[in-house]
Amino acid sequence: MSVILVVQYFLFYSVLCILGAFLCVFLYFQYSYGYWKRRGVPYIKPKFPLGNNNSVGLGSFSYGIETLGWYWELKKRGLKFGGVWNWANPTLVLVDPDYAKDILIKDFQYFTDRHFFHNPKHDPKNESLFVVEKDEWKFMRQNLSPTFTSSKMKMIFQSVMKCTVPMVEYLENCAKNKEDIDVKDTMAAYTINVIGSSIYGLELACFQDKNHKFREIGREIFRIDLVKGAKIAFSRLWEGAAIEAGLGPLSQKITQYFTDVVTETMEHRTKNNEKRQDFMQLVIDLYQATKDQDRPFTFDHLVANIIVFFIAGFDTSATTLHYALYELSVNPDIQEKARDEIKQVLEKHNNVITYETFQDMTYVRQIIEETLRLHPPLNAVARIAAKPYKLRNTNVVIEKGTKVVIPVVGFQRDPDYFPDPERFDPDRFSAENKASRNPYVYMPFGEGPRMCIGMRLALMQTTIGLVQILRNFKISLSPRTKLPVTEKKGVFVMAPDELIYVNAEKI
Ligand code: HEM
Repeated sequence: MSVILVVQYFLFYSVLCILGAFLCVFLYFQYSYGYWKRRGVPYIKPKFPLGNNNSVGLGSFSYGIETLGWYWELKKRGLKFGGVWNWANPTLVLVDPDYAKDILIKDFQYFTDRHFFHNPKHDPKNESLFVVEKDEWKFMRQNLSPTFTSSKMKMIFQSVMKCTVPMVEYLENCAKNKEDIDVKDTMAAYTINVIGSSIYGLELACFQDKNHKFREIGREIFRIDLVKGAKIAFSRLWEGAAIEAGLGPLSQKITQYFTDVVTETMEHRTKNNEKRQDFMQLVIDLYQATKDQDRPFTFDHLVANIIVFFIAGFDTSATTLHYALYELSVNPDIQEKARDEIKQVLEKHNNVITYETFQDMTYVRQIIEETLRLHPPLNAVARIAAKPYKLRNTNVVIEKGTKVVIPVVGFQRDPDYFPDPERFDPDRFSAENKASRNPYVYMPFGEGPRMCIGMRLALMQTTIGLVQILRNFKISLSPRTKLPVTEKKGVFVMAPDELIYVNAEKI
């Protein structure tokens, strides 16, 4: 047989194999696309291969702004729930907030986990509260909850206040030089400083050094390149194989960086017999106190949670603050009203901001709440069924392992619950208006036992940040901002397609 013939045979069989593999995948997807019909659940027609996702990359595996489209399509058909597909994975979307309440609170024992890719076997230093499941989650949550109480917030209040100083100085400079301010980047520098000081006990100087290591790590975590995208796709589609291959939710480089930070901090504090008022100290104490117990809070637990507090803590809050500043720059009357409140409260408290003063800033707090309604950093909350579950007043049984999505952004932009939903109106969050609304149509921090553990810290750092900005500056939209502001598809944390720029004028 000539060489040419061998090559021809090889090519022929290779093409045949590829076509065969493609056909198998295609048939598998087609079978999966019949899932909701077989279960008698109404659904939105999927398209091969993304299902009902309309973006590739990380976004096609998370539940972002596309959940808004799903919500409306199902709601317009008068449905209380409906099926969609994330690639080939059937997912149930809830349209009725009472079902959301059932799943997140009443019947939580069926839905304890959110099923986020993690690798306990090969990547124990990323087994954080966000990803662990069942009993492991219960153990961790019980141990970590005391870390985020109101008294702990009071304890770190002044260190958060201190972080507003370099931010105000930076804005003063921009105001003096009439520079456009990249709001997201600026707010991220502030929230990284806050997380640095309140969690790690470190003064990070992110305003002085634009390329500070923590800022680089922050950017790196949310940057999706081809290799990262491929790894994410692999881990979502072939989870078992990805676990065996040693993949984890974060790169080894990032995990190692944080491990070193924790180790060095522990060594330094032990050597100098130093105890600080930060979250690191609280988890170090927890680690040391449980060392000899049957079920210890291990060093790996410590590292994993110190990492997740950084990831979950800075970008979500920076996103909130950046949308708040955008809304205030296009609603100057609301901005003025907030400034009046700040002036009045400060006069009452001799111009000193304390934990108590900050509690009195109710309108500023309402601005943050309204921002989280219109621009929730996480657009949806997800759970996975731990055992078969029958949806109330129906014959529909959600099978074990099925994902259920609560489209938070859908509820929060529904005119049935928030009339004229596109209008930015902090008065929606007056005590009276709040009391008259179904509480399960507003869930920017999720709900139930698995809701955001860092909510108090998030509200504190965003409210204080906003108070300090508004008492010092008038904020307006820079002509450099491209209007209208649209939303990026395929991202885990909500973001605009184009950067938002504002200008600051010193008062
Ligand atoms: C505006 C800022 C924030 C928003 C909008 C936000 C939102 C959320 C949401 C929607 C969840 C999922 C809840 C659920 O599934 O029911 C969550 C979980 C979580 N968040 Fe936040 N978050 C914010 C800030 C923070 C901060 C500052 C921290 C910590 C420093 C934090 C740590 C966590 C953790 C550890 C979880 C997992 C909780 C668990 O599974 O038990 N978050 N967050």
